[in-house]
Amino acid sequence: TIPLIIDTDPGVDDAFALALATRSPEVDLLGVTTVFGNVSIDHTTRNAQRLLALLGSTAPVARGADRALGEVHLPDARRVHGDDGLSGKALTLPENTRIDPRDAVEFLRDTIDSTTAPVTIAAIGPLTNIARLLETHAGRIGRLVIMGGGIAGGNVTPAAEFNLWSDADAAHRVFAERPVLVPIDLTRRCAVDGAWLESLTGEVGTTLESLTTRYREFYLEANGIDGILIHDAVAVAEAIKPGILTTCRHLLDVNTSDGDSRGAIVPGAFPVDVAEDTDVEALRAFLHQRLSS
Ligand code: BDR
Ligand code: CA
Repeated sequence: TIPLIIDTDPGVDDAFALALATRSPEVDLLGVTTVFGNVSIDHTTRNAQRLLALLGSTAPVARGADRALGEVHLPDARRVHGDDGLSGKALTLPENTRIDPRDAVEFLRDTIDSTTAPVTIAAIGPLTNIARLLETHAGRIGRLVIMGGGIAGGNVTPAAEFNLWSDADAAHRVFAERPVLVPIDLTRRCAVDGAWLESLTGEVGTTLESLTTRYREFYLEANGIDGILIHDAVAVAEAIKPGILTTCRHLLDVNTSDGDSRGAIVPGAFPVDVAEDTDVEALRAFLHQRLSS
């Protein structure tokens, strides 16, 4: 099995990613660390706990950064994911739910140190926690799979994708760690439509579908399509089934200037394995099967 930690800011597509990991027999989910991003750290942490309860997972949740390394602005994706990050749907948080007493970075360090096999990290939010982890643990992560970046352009600004833009300094640091990068150029090609969502079955499948209300409206308003992008689930698919995406190595960096290009991917000195292609139909079928009971 693959020892895995997911660093996340749930978020509707993060919910699909967490569901995929907990429902995949090849994974040993060692924990979930949270980060600000789509909504505030309070919401993302609570959402991670609510989702793991829904998914029947006892993996620990450790709370992480509430803001970017050096920045003043906080991102805000409430218009995409709803005010609470999950389309305002009241998933229950069982009363006895505990939070790990350690900060996310401490949790990551302890878990990496105490696990014999190399730990894979799937980073599907802003990269603040991971950049901090690297202050002491550079070279000690098994595989680092990041959802983020736009090669041909962004989704939050014309140049930048949300996760890299939300903490460009952290992203720059993390690019030195030879990550696998799953950019929006590919995740956009892996959109799922209304029929795909509505045919998910089982408690988990139907609950996931119900969480997409606000998210689906957003895509309809913004792009005129009845379907959603499940960016983070595409990255987690690669984390748990290495090679399901086809990657190509490029030398890249992240723009950390204060201008309009902040958070953009630029040519640079860091080798990054960029996911560029996949069998989209097969990936959709794989996700559908895992997320339905
Ligand atoms: C990324 O930004 C977030 O809104 C999503 O959860 C995903 O991680 C896509 O750009
Ligand atoms: Ca995310």
